[in-house]
Amino acid sequence: MSKEFINAKFPYFLQGGDYNPDQWQNYPEILEEDMRLMKLANCNEMTVGIFAWASLEPSEGNYDFSFLDKALDNIYKNGGRVILATPSGARPHWLADKYPEVLRVDRNGVRELFKTRHNHCFSSPIYRKKVSEINRKLAERYGKHPAVIGWHISNEYNGECYCPLCIQNFRNYLRKKFHNNINELNEAYWTYFWSHNFDSFDQIEPTFGDHMGLTVDWRRFTTEMTVDFMKNEIAPLKEICPDLPVTTNMMGAFYGLDYTKFRDVIDFSSTDNYPTWHSGNQEWTAVASAFGYDVIRCLKKKPFVLMENTPCNVNWHEYNKLMRPGMETLSSFQAIAHGADSILYFQFRKGRGGSEKFHGAVVDHEGTEKTRVFNTVKNKGALLKKVNEICGTGVKSEVAVIFDWESMWAIDECAGFSRHTKKYRETVISYYELFWKKGINCDVVNSHEDLSEYKLVVAPMLYMTEKDTIRNFENYVKNGGILYATYALGMVDGNDLCYLGGFPGDELKNVFGIWNEEIDTLYPKDSNFCEYKGENHKIVDYCELIHSNGAEVLSCYGDDFYKGMPTVTVNRYGKGKAYYQAARDTGSLSDAVISEIINELEIRSALRSRANLGFGVSAHERYDGNIRYVFTENYSDVPVTISLGRTMRDMINDFDTDTVTLAPYGLGIFKYEE
Ligand code: GLA
Ligand code: ZN
Repeated sequence: MSKEFINAKFPYFLQGGDYNPDQWQNYPEILEEDMRLMKLANCNEMTVGIFAWASLEPSEGNYDFSFLDKALDNIYKNGGRVILATPSGARPHWLADKYPEVLRVDRNGVRELFKTRHNHCFSSPIYRKKVSEINRKLAERYGKHPAVIGWHISNEYNGECYCPLCIQNFRNYLRKKFHNNINELNEAYWTYFWSHNFDSFDQIEPTFGDHMGLTVDWRRFTTEMTVDFMKNEIAPLKEICPDLPVTTNMMGAFYGLDYTKFRDVIDFSSTDNYPTWHSGNQEWTAVASAFGYDVIRCLKKKPFVLMENTPCNVNWHEYNKLMRPGMETLSSFQAIAHGADSILYFQFRKGRGGSEKFHGAVVDHEGTEKTRVFNTVKNKGALLKKVNEICGTGVKSEVAVIFDWESMWAIDECAGFSRHTKKYRETVISYYELFWKKGINCDVVNSHEDLSEYKLVVAPMLYMTEKDTIRNFENYVKNGGILYATYALGMVDGNDLCYLGGFPGDELKNVFGIWNEEIDTLYPKDSNFCEYKGENHKIVDYCELIHSNGAEVLSCYGDDFYKGMPTVTVNRYGKGKAYYQAARDTGSLSDAVISEIINELEIRSALRSRANLGFGVSAHERYDGNIRYVFTENYSDVPVTISLGRTMRDMINDFDTDTVTLAPYGLGIFKYEE
């Protein structure tokens, strides 16, 4: 593994973030002061121009780049670099006034008012044209500016539009998918149900609930439109400056868009992250946050950018608690531990007005370097400099958890199971958590990807299992892989049509050596249990009634009319093995079974122990092919001492050690050569 940098011309960890000089044009002394503060805070990056369209093009075709010229020159003069944003996340008034079609239409067919950002139609030809024009101007003017190291495309793409143009595009999307044959669509969506069959593609509306195939296709289409819009944004940039890398800031495991479809359009991935620290279950907050980073890292499997996090508090959570001392450093370095090469904030300086004026920032309204928060940022920047040799290194995992957007949409919205307890994403994270607790690096991939590099793959609740996924699983196990799947596997194909002949569908029955006959949905008051190796484990929410068809039964239900039927099975298939967990447990059963697999396969953990490290404690590893960099993280509010499993160099305190004591919210960074 060699190092890969976000931009090889600037091979350093980045610290900085969203910076809005367009809002401060009447305060030249503040813009001047920002440069002094940037250096003092050990910041070397500013993300500029997001939402700045009204300043860049005050009226149609009249451009004014003066504020941006000054900002870029000044940042560069002061040693900083810039990730330059395209401004499409919010449109200027004149644009919406002259071309009302650029505004979105809601589900009821009502055109939105000018209000808010992210309120633009992805289909609108005029919006695409205007965005392309301004992006071209930016590329021509700044593509070769020495400060600019990358493009930030738009901002947190999200949402959907139901205007006539979008509906027309949706129909065309379906025409293409179903070979212009409406009967093929009727078959695929099972539309004779309630006499909903279509006579023509022109009858199709995005209406949801009755036919999940249509619902899932609308979501697929929304992703495709967003990606298509993004491609339109990127085209002039790549034409003018082909070597400048592009990204768009994503939102971890965001529900609405299948980010795996963004993979081929961006050069590096990036994410925003705003965990609700100190809100209750701190460990779960840490695990969910880590999961989001691994989703983003695995899009490109190389270093990514933490594009936004807060240096202290946000303003839009239900409660906006300050991070406790230590937590602000640990929270940011969590991203570094998972393969990020930056700590960027929203925002560098707090605005005086607008709805985000109380959101945390590096520089407060008070305006100097005196603040507590400013100094935490300064210290983080110093630490980033100290450990800069880690920048560009990769993350290697022997384990992957499957997270499939399409399966999530299909199961979460289907009528069946229970309305309240499906929790697809949470369930996937709860399996990811098993590895997190043991300090084992874990990739998060979708079910269509090549799995051959992994010793163990876990596929929780993969309800929508497309034919190619079934082939993928089959080959993976046949060639020696260990696959661990759970209840709800392989129930429907990619159109949400149930597999016939018993679940899990198709060849999966042979891979797992089981037949899943029924599923019992429990009320919250209910539970069952199973015994595994002398211990009882609680079972809740879902119990499948499965039969072994060749698989070895490892554990059985202890209660109810299906007492004695299998809860966990394992089947040899080709050179590998396929485990099936038929019921939802509360963590202990899956931990018991998967821990054994981990030990049997000798799966690598950052600290070699392969045991749980204690509540709220984890470790992760980055690797350059020669040196291992180990991060120890304590998200709990009590100190903890852990063994490193060997002698390592403490990179923060400069000594060799084989144990570490982490303060509450403490971080350790170590290295050793193999
Ligand atoms: C998002 C947006 C930013 C800002 C922050 C506030 O990440 O991208 O513009 O609104 O949230 O937390
Ligand atoms: Zn639209």
